[in-house]
Order: sequence, then structure tokens, then C-alpha cells
Amino acid sequence: MRILFVCLGNICRSPTAEIIFQSIAEKRGLDHLIEVDSAGTSDYHVYSPADDRAQRSAKRRGYDLSSCRGRQVNYQDLIDFDMLIAMDRSNADDLSRIADPQQEKKIRLFLEFAPSASFMDVPDPYYGGNSGFDRVIDLIEEASYGLLDHIEALLDDKSTA
Ligand code: 4NP
Repeated sequence: MRILFVCLGNICRSPTAEIIFQSIAEKRGLDHLIEVDSAGTSDYHVYSPADDRAQRSAKRRGYDLSSCRGRQVNYQDLIDFDMLIAMDRSNADDLSRIADPQQEKKIRLFLEFAPSASFMDVPDPYYGGNSGFDRVIDLIEEASYGLLDHIEALLDDKSTA
């Protein structure tokens, strides 16, 4: 199962999601079944490391974003990945614009998998203060648990089919 996390810049939310999701998958012993990556819909930060504020917030919570580098999403990603997980609705709309009709179902919003969230967008922390980055981590952790439950159920169905 190949999962691509997508935001606008690929320096704040989606690299954070990639690393947190991977770490939780490892703790659950599911990492051998799952491949993760992240990308941005824009080309603003291609090859850039994750935002310093995102790296600091993640580090305080035990996650290391230092290996992440920005890249832009492309059409091949819609072929290669099984799920493209958008951080907000504008990211999902941008993905839909490059997707073929049969690829649309691969595009999901991350917060669909966070049962306590009463909204659908992971807020963009780029123009705000440090607390926004901590909030993003809370949301991403919750949605990662939910997405892993969903994937585990899909994989169980496949293995019993
Ligand atoms: P991200 O945050 O989409 O979570 O990586 C942003 C990063 C950069 C910009 C906007 C959002 N920017 O406009 O440069």
C-alpha cells in the first residue's frame, strides 16, 4: 500500500504527516506493508528542508523531519500511489484537476480519518505562530491512527478474499 501525503508547500504539514504516520505504522508493526512519501501541489519549496518551526515542534514530540526535502506532486504520483491524502480541500481540488476520472477515488482528505475533528482541513500553520505547528501534530497523530485502522481493515479484507 503506497500512501502520498499532500499539502501546498511540502515543508510543513505533509512532511510532518509522512514522518508521524511512518512512525506509528512502525510501532504497530505495519511498516513492511506500507510505503509513504509526501509532496506539495506548488513548486515553491522544491528541494527545501522542512520548515524550522515544523522541525522543532516535531522534535519536541519525538519525530525527526530532518531527512525531508520538498518536491512537487506530479501526474505519475496518481498512477504510483494507492492513496493521495490531502491536508485540506484546496490541496484535494488541485489533485483532482490533474487526476483522471478513475483516479479520483484515490484522493482523500486526511481529517476524514480523525473522528474528533469537526472540520475537514488541517489548518495551514505557515503564516501563524508556533502553537499552530503543535496543533497540526495533534491532528496528524489522530488522523494517522484512523488512517492506519482503515488500511489495516483493507489489507485484512484482501488477505481473506
Ligand atoms: P504547507 O505550508 O503547505 O503545510 O507546507 C505552507 C508552506 C509554504 C507556503 C504555504 C504553505 N508558501 O506559501 O510558501
